[in-house]
Amino acid sequence: MFSRDRIQYKTPEQFRRMRAAGLVVAAVHDAMREAVKPGVSTKDLDVLAEKVIRSSGGVPSFLGYDIGNGPYPGSICSSVNDQVVHAIPSPTQVLEDGDLISIDVGAIVDGWHGDAAITLGVGEVAKELTALVSACEEAMWAGIRAAATARRLGDISFAIQTSIQDAGDYGIVTGFGGHGIGTEMHQDPHVLNYGRSGVGPKIRPGMALALEPMITLGEAEIVEDDDGWTVSTADGTPAAHTEHSIAVCDDGIWVLTAPDGGAERLGESLASLARQ
Ligand code: MF3
Ligand code: CO
Repeated sequence: MFSRDRIQYKTPEQFRRMRAAGLVVAAVHDAMREAVKPGVSTKDLDVLAEKVIRSSGGVPSFLGYDIGNGPYPGSICSSVNDQVVHAIPSPTQVLEDGDLISIDVGAIVDGWHGDAAITLGVGEVAKELTALVSACEEAMWAGIRAAATARRLGDISFAIQTSIQDAGDYGIVTGFGGHGIGTEMHQDPHVLNYGRSGVGPKIRPGMALALEPMITLGEAEIVEDDDGWTVSTADGTPAAHTEHSIAVCDDGIWVLTAPDGGAERLGESLASLARQ
């Protein structure tokens, strides 16, 4: 799994092409922040997401994606409440006040991929859910910051795990994780959301990684639905999932799926300044 020979190293020019895909994904998330409200179905969100992707010059990467269980039927994964990841948009799944929804989006521009996820509250949500989402976002940013100084992939995984544990008693979903990204959505290496520092492939300029912690308000155990895609918590507690695609540059990290490239969250010392 940690085959370093299979990591695709990118040139700065290729990172700029990935940035185009990343910005399409970011545009979809902006549209989702506007659209998510009580009464909207997850299928409505999917239709809107596909429109935004195509009108921005992208192609939805999830649509038709096949990992052996048949082609994925949507442009987003819309995972509500106890659904953790990969839930299929449905016209009968209508959002209600107090729900939590993770929206995972992938887009391809000129053959290069972007992939990111946000978790949003619908209307007014309970404080413990807001805290769950913050813990997940913080863990993702802890991983992104760690990537700026990491020597090995395990340093990033360890930073994500430590951040979650520091935030509270959350379940850390272990069956899924982050991944390399480039001319395919999923590339080596697999990025665990837990683990030890100092192990795994070396972090080097040219790497592009999608970091995506998934945490639950209860236990970490997950169950897979009969539809072959939807992953939910076994104990029925709500889950959060956040993701960014990042580029490891010579002079720091470029968050390809963040509109500001990560400048604000990372600060000048960790963000790449070479980008444009
Ligand atoms: N963004 C998801 C990931 O990072 C992929 C969604 S699976 C798909 O693993 F089938 F919807 F594409
Ligand atoms: Co991903």
